[in-house]
Amino acid sequence: MDKFNILAIESSCDDTCASVISDFKILSNVINTQKIHKHFGGVVPELASRNHMYNIASTVKEALQIANIDKKDLSAVAVTTHPGLNGPLLVGSLFAKGYSYGLNIPLIPINHLHGHMLANLIDNDIEQLKLLNKNNIFPFLCLVVSGGNSQIYIVRSFTDFELLGETLDDAIGEAYDKVAKMLGLEYPGGPKIDKLAQLGDKNKFKNNFSKAHIAGYNYSFSGFKTSVKYFLEDKLKEDKDFINNNLNDLCASVQECLLNMILEKFVLAIKNTNIKHIAIGGGVASNNGLRLKLKEIANNMNLTLHIPERQYCTDNAAMIAITSTYYFLRKYQD
Ligand code: KG4
Repeated sequence: MDKFNILAIESSCDDTCASVISDFKILSNVINTQKIHKHFGGVVPELASRNHMYNIASTVKEALQIANIDKKDLSAVAVTTHPGLNGPLLVGSLFAKGYSYGLNIPLIPINHLHGHMLANLIDNDIEQLKLLNKNNIFPFLCLVVSGGNSQIYIVRSFTDFELLGETLDDAIGEAYDKVAKMLGLEYPGGPKIDKLAQLGDKNKFKNNFSKAHIAGYNYSFSGFKTSVKYFLEDKLKEDKDFINNNLNDLCASVQECLLNMILEKFVLAIKNTNIKHIAIGGGVASNNGLRLKLKEIANNMNLTLHIPERQYCTDNAAMIAITSTYYFLRKYQD
């Protein structure tokens, strides 16, 4: 196999990201998170598109510099083309298209969700990676948990993903962010709830919030979110400092409920499919409580657990880079 260097670009939401992979090794992973959305408590698509336009050239330059790779030595450009916000995706796709056209190298379109799942291959044994579909991590059961998705997949190869279940309304990350907003925490609220949860009592309020009971492997988080809203409204009528006085316990209880909901279905899928490798992907996969609970599940059920490093959980281009290697080596291009 000839040596290869691929530049990957990811801009599906509010992170402008670029990464260089060389012979299955990630050489750089630059993530420029747009701070402006904090003022609005969520991502404003038009602002995200504009900020990608300002950031993308310098982000790519930085990724090439860190990797110490000259653009003339690139073998291909990979880019997230879907799913995500249309404007932000368009900025990344057009930039990548221009780059590949200018350098006369292939352009490889990548599905963002495949990236989150295959992030679990980063740092895998290179000899195993060279086997592409025969890599011994496959098949694995993957929980994809982010600001836009809550899904369970069977991943059989670089290209074979079977969706078992998904959220019928909000994603778990969205539930974290919206509850955090109710608690007066800044966007993105997931990491803040996670941090404060470690200081609180998870049992204090967990029975005050409603949990969805949906058949099969699907999820729903909107009822939970509404129950937190009504609970807080009632408590604030009695004590205007209720949130401040109970913040850590509220965070711990919210986290306990959300993680139990997400893991109940995942454990059901593990039992029913009997797959022995389990993995996670997406921004919420950085969550300390989730990582701990998954380790316990893997120990108790005798499973091999794959967890990407935190820098490969939230949106990043390294996951797009690793996913693109399959298509590059199979000579697939846009
Ligand atoms: O994957 P990602 O960067 O973007 C999407 O594609 O959605 O995920 C962002 C989401 C946000 O909702 C954020 O609050 C959540 O991931 N998140 C966390 C943690 N870190 C990020 N949620 C809970 N605990 C965390 N430690």
